[in-house]
Amino acid sequence: MRKKIIAGNWKMNLSSEEATELISQYARIAQSSEVNLMVFPPMIYLKDCIKAVTNIGVGAQNGFPIDSGAFTGEVSMKQIKMAGANAVLIGHSERRSLFHESDAFLKQKIDAALESGLIPFFCCGESLEVRNSNEHIAFVQNQLHTVLGHLSDDQMSQIVIAYEPIWAIGTGLTASSAQAEEMHSSIRNWIKTQFNSSISDNCSILYGGSCNPSNAAELFACPNVDGGLIGGASLKSTDFEQLFSAEAWITLN
Ligand code: PGA
Repeated sequence: MRKKIIAGNWKMNLSSEEATELISQYARIAQSSEVNLMVFPPMIYLKDCIKAVTNIGVGAQNGFPIDSGAFTGEVSMKQIKMAGANAVLIGHSERRSLFHESDAFLKQKIDAALESGLIPFFCCGESLEVRNSNEHIAFVQNQLHTVLGHLSDDQMSQIVIAYEPIWAIGTGLTASSAQAEEMHSSIRNWIKTQFNSSISDNCSILYGGSCNPSNAAELFACPNVDGGLIGGASLKSTDFEQLFSAEAWITLN
């Protein structure tokens, strides 16, 4: 059975003291939940978070696909793994748009992450323009095909996917449960067609984009939504805790 995951993407937020306090709150929340909790802190807090908690997965928000060399400012997937992290975000829309990361580069990152033993959380999603022209399904399938299409069955079975419509990230706009379910089931179908039904049934597909305590229960109740990648609401432990205790979430199988 596929894992239910709630992951906090802290982005470039929090002081060192705030990060320490928040990670201890996460550890407390994780004790009372059967859902898998993940955190993606800023790189500078990665080791502190890893040291502070044992019941939460800790991942990096980014990683470079070459192991070592003259790449000033970068941290390799291999170094992230050696620091003790177990996952990495790849393809977040902020990295695609602000840092011009292409699908070809993301493909290299996926390969390097898998090679290093990190779980890639692959982010995909369309702009409002693409959605308004009703090409959102084809657009996301193309992202999946370009970045993940070459993987072996074994490699694909390690991937977590986060569907994050760009128009919903940090905007307060959220996909409706019908929009999320439509996309999540099409992603699952793509995996089934490209790989097989066992991999597709077991792949966790998370929703991200202004997910908060007031809309989480409805989104998490969708049969193909296996949790969330949470930005803004992951920075407040009270909001994050409420995401965990959403009635619909607890009753999910
Ligand atoms: P948001 O961010 O929840 O603040 O919209 C989600 C994300 O970017 O992962």
